[in-house]
Amino acid sequence: MQNVTIVDHPLVQHKLTLMRDKGTSTASFRRLLREIALLLSYEVMHDLKLTLTRIETPLAPVDAPILEGKKPVFASILRAGNGLLEGMLDLVPSARVAHIGIYRDPESLEAVEYYFKAPEDLADRLVIVVDPMLATANSASAAIEKLKERGAHNIRFVCLLAAPEGIERFHTAQPDIPIYTAAIDEYLNDHGYIVPGLGDAGDRLYGTK
Ligand code: PRP
Ligand code: URA
Repeated sequence: MQNVTIVDHPLVQHKLTLMRDKGTSTASFRRLLREIALLLSYEVMHDLKLTLTRIETPLAPVDAPILEGKKPVFASILRAGNGLLEGMLDLVPSARVAHIGIYRDPESLEAVEYYFKAPEDLADRLVIVVDPMLATANSASAAIEKLKERGAHNIRFVCLLAAPEGIERFHTAQPDIPIYTAAIDEYLNDHGYIVPGLGDAGDRLYGTK
């Protein structure tokens, strides 16, 4: 599938299976999401630009690589995006963070926005949007529209699970944005849930149901 990277590392797939299991506790679900985020980050940032800096090791001076340019922005779609965000910040603690409050209306499945706070210089940074679930793609697309309005143009989207229908709709609405996911599931059910999926990511992450 064009513009979609499936991160099929065995550790990702193993942890994802544990997360799908309905018997997995809230504490384990949260820890696993944080761990998988680290592994997904590795893939989504594989091509970050490097520059050389002069340092001295205990033995000798050396020109060694460090990340070039401004720190990336991790844009979390609340609530469940925060589960991925934590792991990504473990790996890149100096990243900037945007919070985008969006929930899905349970009847219409339309995205409802309730909060937005992001760094002002989005145009100058790589923006990595995170949300574990890409179902209808309404939430992801609304979040990306908002980021684009605020100047972001170098954007990537990271999730854990995607529905084929969501990927298609996402590509139609946001053809320029690459998707990174751990798996593409079978289908969306009549209530907009990914099947087999893992249920409601926010509820499982925060124990609200
Ligand atoms: C979930 C999930 C995504 C959205 C995906 O959030 O975290 O944001 O659904 O569905 P979509 O692709 O059809 O838009 P939810 O609306 O349940 O909000 P919550 O994280 O606050 O529980
Ligand atoms: N949101 C979720 O949390 N789970 C789904 O399966 C679909 C949307």
